Amino acid sequence: MFDAMDRGAVLAVKRTRLYTAEEEEMEMEVDGDEEEEEGWAWRLGMGPAGEQRAAAIVVSDAMEPDFPVIYVNAAFEAATGYRAHEVLGRNCRFLQFRDPRAQRRHPLVDPMVVSEMRRCLGDGIEFEGELLNFRKDGAPLNNRLRLIPMHGDDGSLTHIIAIQLFSDANIDPSNISYPVYKQQSSHRLSIQDMNPACHEHTPKVQCSDYCGIFQLSDEVLAHNILSRLSPRDMASIGSVCTRMHELTKNDHLRKMVCQNAWGRDVTGRLETSTKMLGWGRLARELTTLEAASWRKFTVGGRVEPSRCNFSACAVGNRLVLFGGEGVNMQPMNDTFVLNLEASKPEWCLVKVSASPPGRWGHTLSWLNGSWLVVFGGCGHQGLLNDVFVLDLDAQHPTWREVASDSPPLPRSWHSSCTLDGSKLVVSGGCAESGVLLSDTFLLDLTKEKPAWKEIPTS
Ligand SMILES: Cc1cc2nc3c(=O)[nH]c(=O)nc-3n(C[C@H](O)[C@H](O)[C@H](O)COP(=O)(O)O)c2cc1C
Repeated sequence: MFDAMDRGAVLAVKRTRLYTAEEEEMEMEVDGDEEEEEGWAWRLGMGPAGEQRAAAIVVSDAMEPDFPVIYVNAAFEAATGYRAHEVLGRNCRFLQFRDPRAQRRHPLVDPMVVSEMRRCLGDGIEFEGELLNFRKDGAPLNNRLRLIPMHGDDGSLTHIIAIQLFSDANIDPSNISYPVYKQQSSHRLSIQDMNPACHEHTPKVQCSDYCGIFQLSDEVLAHNILSRLSPRDMASIGSVCTRMHELTKNDHLRKMVCQNAWGRDVTGRLETSTKMLGWGRLARELTTLEAASWRKFTVGGRVEPSRCNFSACAVGNRLVLFGGEGVNMQPMNDTFVLNLEASKPEWCLVKVSASPPGRWGHTLSWLNGSWLVVFGGCGHQGLLNDVFVLDLDAQHPTWREVASDSPPLPRSWHSSCTLDGSKLVVSGGCAESGVLLSDTFLLDLTKEKPAWKEIPTS
């Protein structure tokens, strides 16, 4: 969005003495024309007619609470209609209010961008984004904004420099996606007030004991409460009443709840998929797996010789298979891998330097990263309770036995899983002479000398 030129501008700001409001008044005549200040002669952005536009600049004091503005340039005054003396000492969020007397941010201002700004300012890191702002006269403005933290010699955050590229926003601010809550003259709200869809002919029922949450404004509900939920909770609350349903339809809000559930990185990567589906549908599909369907996957290679009673598990996008029962109940000890990310996935035998004894009815589970663990099963000599690990990505993959104290009874056809990518849990199965087991054991593989612990179950 910004190029090397504005980096130079930032440095210019750093070097330049900051103006006081009075000096500003004396030095600039601002009447909507773009004036050029000496030392500020860098230009950014193009206007609609192709003319170059001056970047607005604001500097805030980061050592004072709430980042009060200590400097604005002439381009800022020209673009926003606010004079320096009206702005100095205030936080810049007033640009998100349509009317200078408004008490809260306009609902069309993207709350995601605002929270991102808040987060970046809190963390003392640079922010770059675009959001809706308003001129003093209420006209909507698009603001391509960059906030740059400035640090003192001791590393502490001293100032924030904002570079703003304002342009006219082609939106109708009256057509908002959150229905605006109208302040009632009395504290007592009727059900109709709380639920705009209530039939207008229904007699008004006073309900002072109705849930207080409905007395909050739409913006507070959406921005301060709903935005903190998980996608499922938001779907539930959206089915409570028409007002909640309307609020939860907002796509910005839906994106925020997806971010709560899956983090910024994942939501960022999903951004392109939402162009088609929208965040609501995407969240529903991912949380309910309703769009998931089986399809036949044709792969190359072979697991040979053919077998049954083998064990397989996924290691990221790779499917790994170990051992199994060949012809004449032959216990096997070979390892195969199928990389599902490959352009032509095919089963390949993994060349390992050492293998556990052959077995079937064992378990294979994924540990951290590229590690796998095998437990138990039935070998040549009968049932087993040994543990082997393998790093699939090692240069020379080798199955290594893990010596462990107090192992569970030898068994086959049991179940296992891993916890936290490092603890193996084994449960049930079939012991010698066909006795069925119902015990559960845990082995922490991060320990130098791992010892099995039985997990008591009632
Ligand atoms: C130097 C500086 C300039 C800023 N410029 C703008 C701006 O042009 N438009 C805007 O909407 N917010 C701007 N902000 C961000 C708001 O002041 C505020 O930090 C943001 O709304 C998040 O905080 P809040 O949730 O408490 O409002 C600026 C912040 C700083 C520190």
